[in-house]
Amino acid sequence: MALFGKKNANYISAKETKRISKENRKITSEIEKKRNRKNIPESEYITTMKNPENVVEFDNVHTYFFTDIGTVKAVDGVSFEIPQGKTVGVVGESGCGKSVTSLSLMQLVQRPQGQTVEGEIRFNTGDKAYNIVNTPTSVMQKLRGNELSMIFQEPMTALNPVFRIGEQVDEITKLHNPDMSKEQIKARTIEMLELVGIANSEGVYKMYPHELSGGMRQRVCIAIGLACNPRLIIADEPTTALDVTIQAQILDLMRNLKDKINSSIMLITHDLGVIAEMADYVVVMYAGRVVEKGTASEIFNHPSHPYTIGLMRSKPVVGKKVDKLYSIPGKVPNPIDMPDYCYFRDRCELSCDKCQGSYPGVVKLSPTHEVSCYRYADRPEAGWLATVHPGEGGNAHE
Ligand SMILES: Nc1ncnc2c1ncn2[C@@H]1O[C@H](COP(=O)(O)OP(=O)(O)O)[C@@H](O)[C@H]1O
Ligand SMILES: [Mg+2]
Repeated sequence: MALFGKKNANYISAKETKRISKENRKITSEIEKKRNRKNIPESEYITTMKNPENVVEFDNVHTYFFTDIGTVKAVDGVSFEIPQGKTVGVVGESGCGKSVTSLSLMQLVQRPQGQTVEGEIRFNTGDKAYNIVNTPTSVMQKLRGNELSMIFQEPMTALNPVFRIGEQVDEITKLHNPDMSKEQIKARTIEMLELVGIANSEGVYKMYPHELSGGMRQRVCIAIGLACNPRLIIADEPTTALDVTIQAQILDLMRNLKDKINSSIMLITHDLGVIAEMADYVVVMYAGRVVEKGTASEIFNHPSHPYTIGLMRSKPVVGKKVDKLYSIPGKVPNPIDMPDYCYFRDRCELSCDKCQGSYPGVVKLSPTHEVSCYRYADRPEAGWLATVHPGEGGNAHE
C-alpha cells in the first residue's frame, strides 16, 4: 500500500478484519439470541396478507451476509408477490441475489453470518399467514415440505448417493404422514414416481441415484418436492444441469403437475427462454434489487429497464442473423461497496443527466408493470399511473 503512495480500496489489514469480525459477531449474536428464544408467541410471526389472493408477498426484504471483509448486501430491498396458482419467474445474471431471495423464504440462508435484517416475507397457508422472517425454526420445519418445497439445480447433490430412490421418497412421505403404514407409503412413492413420468417405477424404486440419468434424477427430486402437495414450489434453476430436450420435458412436467395440485411456482433462472415458456409474471433482479417487474407479456413485449432490454438483446433469436450476440458491457458492482446511485448506471448505454441522482424510485407503467429507472420518471408516455415513490429507492436504511 505504502509502496505506491495511495490507498488500495480492496486491501483490508488484519487489524481491520479483526475489527469487522468482532462487530459482525455482536450483530449476529444479538439476532440469533432473539431467534433462539423459547416459546416465541404467535403474535410475533402470525400476520395478515396484503392481498389474500397471494401465496407469498416479499415486502422490502433485506438479507445480508456479515463477512470478515464487510457486509454483503445480497438482497437489498426486494418486493414482489406470488399470486395463487401462478408461476412467477425471477431472472437476472449470476450473483444478483436470486437464490438468496428464495433461501430467505425457506429460512435456509446460511446462519449465523447470513440474516434477513429488514422487511417481511408473508406466506399464506390458506387459514393463516406467516411472517417467515420471524417464524421460529420449529414452526418452519412444519411449513417446509408440507406447504413450501424446493427443487434444486443439481439433482445429484440433492439426492443422497448411498440410499435407494425408494427409501428417499418414502422418508419424505413418512415424515409428513406419520400414520401411514409401510405398504401405504410405498404405494404412494410408486404413485409419485409414475406421476413425474418414470415408466419403470418399481425398478427405479430399488435403484441408487447413480444408476439414473440426469433427467430421471431431476424427476425424482420433483417427486420428492411434490410428495406433500405444497402450496408453493420453489424451483432454483431446475433445468440448468440438463440438456435441452430433457429441459423441455421437465418444464412440461412441472407445468402439468402445478395445475394438478393447484400450487404456485417461483421459478428462478438466468434463461429467458425458460421464463417465456413458463411464467405468468416476471421479476428482473439486478445487484440484489428488483429493477423491473410485470406480466410476462409486458416484460417480453415492452422491456423498459435498460438492463431488461440488454437481457432481451443478449438472447439468440431463431431466424435473425447477427454477427455477434450482444452482451451487456461492464460488470456488476461489488456487493460489499454499492454505489449510492443507480447500480446499473456505470454499465448503462442509455444513462442521462438525471441518472446522477440517488437510486431511482419505482415508476408504475401500468397497474402490473413497475420499473426503477430515471428514464421514465417524468415522461408523459410513461403511462397514466406514472408516479415515483421516493421512499422505495435510495439507501435510506444505511
Ligand atoms: N454464504 C454466503 N456468504 C457470503 N456471501 C454469499 C453467501 N451466499 C451468497 N452470497 C453472495 O450473495 C450474492 C447473491 O448470491 P446468489 O443469491 O447465490 O446469486 P444468484 O442470483 O446467482 O442465485 C452473491 O454476491 C454471493 O456472493
Ligand atoms: Mg443461484
